[in-house]
Amino acid sequence: MHSTMFRILGLFKPYRRLIYMALTLELIAIVTRLIVPRLTATVVNDVITDGKYDILTPLCIAILALTVLRSAAGYTRAMTFQKVSQQINYDIRTGLYDHLQEMPWEFYDKNRVGEIMSRMTGDMNNVRNFLCNTTFSIFTNSVCFVGSFVFMMFMSWQVTLMVLIMGPIIALTAMRFNRLIRPVFRDVREQNAVLNTRTQEDLAGMHVVKAFAREDYEQQRFEKDNRELLKKNLKASFIWSNYMPFMDLLSQLCTPITLAGGALMVYLGHMNIGELVGVTGYIWMLTNPMRQLANIINATAQAVTSAEKVFYYTDLGSTIREPQDAVSPEKFEGHVVFDHVTFSYGDHIVLKDICLEAKPGQTIAVMGATGSGKSTLITLLGRFYDIQKGSILVDGIDVRRQKLKPLRKHIGFVQQDNFLFSDTIADNIRYGKPGADMDRVKRSAHVAMADEFIEHCPQGYETVVGERGMGLSGGQKQRTGIARAVLISPSILVLDDSTSAVDMETEYEIQQELKQVLSGRTTFIIAHRISSVKNADQIIVLKNGEIAERGRHRELMDLDGIYAGMVRDQMSSAVKV
Ligand SMILES: Nc1ncnc2c1ncn2[C@@H]1O[C@H](COP(=O)(O)OP(=O)(O)OP(=O)(O)O)[C@@H](O)[C@H]1O
Ligand SMILES: [Mg+2]
Repeated sequence: MHSTMFRILGLFKPYRRLIYMALTLELIAIVTRLIVPRLTATVVNDVITDGKYDILTPLCIAILALTVLRSAAGYTRAMTFQKVSQQINYDIRTGLYDHLQEMPWEFYDKNRVGEIMSRMTGDMNNVRNFLCNTTFSIFTNSVCFVGSFVFMMFMSWQVTLMVLIMGPIIALTAMRFNRLIRPVFRDVREQNAVLNTRTQEDLAGMHVVKAFAREDYEQQRFEKDNRELLKKNLKASFIWSNYMPFMDLLSQLCTPITLAGGALMVYLGHMNIGELVGVTGYIWMLTNPMRQLANIINATAQAVTSAEKVFYYTDLGSTIREPQDAVSPEKFEGHVVFDHVTFSYGDHIVLKDICLEAKPGQTIAVMGATGSGKSTLITLLGRFYDIQKGSILVDGIDVRRQKLKPLRKHIGFVQQDNFLFSDTIADNIRYGKPGADMDRVKRSAHVAMADEFIEHCPQGYETVVGERGMGLSGGQKQRTGIARAVLISPSILVLDDSTSAVDMETEYEIQQELKQVLSGRTTFIIAHRISSVKNADQIIVLKNGEIAERGRHRELMDLDGIYAGMVRDQMSSAVKV
């Protein structure tokens, strides 16, 4: 708890000077507030009681000047603090976002988008609220409390002590309220995260929901979670509305106590009328901080819980980092070696003792049943996961010793689940090289056989595609993905099932184009159709995490094993058709 608090406060550090300035201004504003009742007492005693009317004007001017000064200080303080708080808000957001960019694939395998979004919004807002409002409220209330206590003591220590009797009662009530409301607030926050995640997933999967006509089911689930949130919110408001009037009553009681006690003191001759009037001016400043105690404790507790969650993400640290002395090959040629590679996701071993070499310019085809680890094998090339045993060398250097960005920039990935951003087709194609000119975009599109359909789109290359590439067919998305990979002119091209949604004829044409453009580049191709892998320099067949067969088409046919079986299956189904 303490260390988290220090870390939150640490965010103020870059703005120390502005913060000191804001606090000084606030101090000035409070002191002016503290002086005014003192002056009022003088007005009552010296002017009204003793008839010294000549000092009335200077006193009124002094009170007016103090009020103006207070407003000016308050205004400047508010502006300064707004500036700092917005800046800090910006800092936290950027920091967390940058960090999320650094996180490895594994992080996104394990954490749900809805939950990450909750952290980015709700939790960060709690931290911001604490930094911008609560810290300030703590300062103001403490100074007000101590200041009014001191000023009141000078006027009448007896009345001050009488009012202070209410202190422990108010404080205890505040603590009790906090104990009651804190778990309820936590529940509300958690339920909010649940509802956010559900909404986000439902919207993302709306096509599936509709395809399976499960709208009613989803509505019911949403309704249930939403009702739960309503219940929790009502509970929180119930506690809140029960408590606030009670707190107000307690603090209002301070006024009659002061008046009664004050009257008694005046009667006994321990204090004069002016001091009694002055003392009433301090009651609010003395009791309000006690009233605020619950809010302050609550906001602080919320901020700490939220900060712990935000810091949890920022502390995770990327498991995949390049070493300090990271290097890059002198020349990226596309020479790949898998040397006794073993890899598992957690405890689930997916690849066992894989040995493989792709010489520059070669085409390696990876085959195997679904789930046999084909996609996993090729993601290891860009070091998106770290292997448990063995090593993977790209152009002679272990990927774990390489600088990550140059390594990845030289590999053109066309992933199985190709993501298109809601941006123009042209920008989607030049995603890996933002500066690329239109000519280059068009050439890449041509290689991927995507130019024709793009030109038929309403705004051609400037057509905006929706989230997840909405509005494009599966094959069109795949071809846009290929164009994107080709444009960066990679030394290694990785095609993961990337022509599965394209007809055989187009697939053949794409391959011919690719061969011409990427001659001399290494290509890894995962495909199910024999026609797309037949001409590879090496075909490997994965089974149970191991390479069961390897060789050229002819050799594997002669071997008459799994590969030959797949060929026969496809031939016979083609004949049947
Ligand atoms: N991110 C992940 N976290 C944990 N396990 C995973 C992950 N991705 C894949 N797996 C598991 O690893 C195994 C291999 O998956 P992989 O995606 O490499 O198969 P694949 O050969 O590409 O299959 P397909 O032909 O269906 O694309 C599967 O059993 C899968 O359940
Ligand atoms: Mg796959």
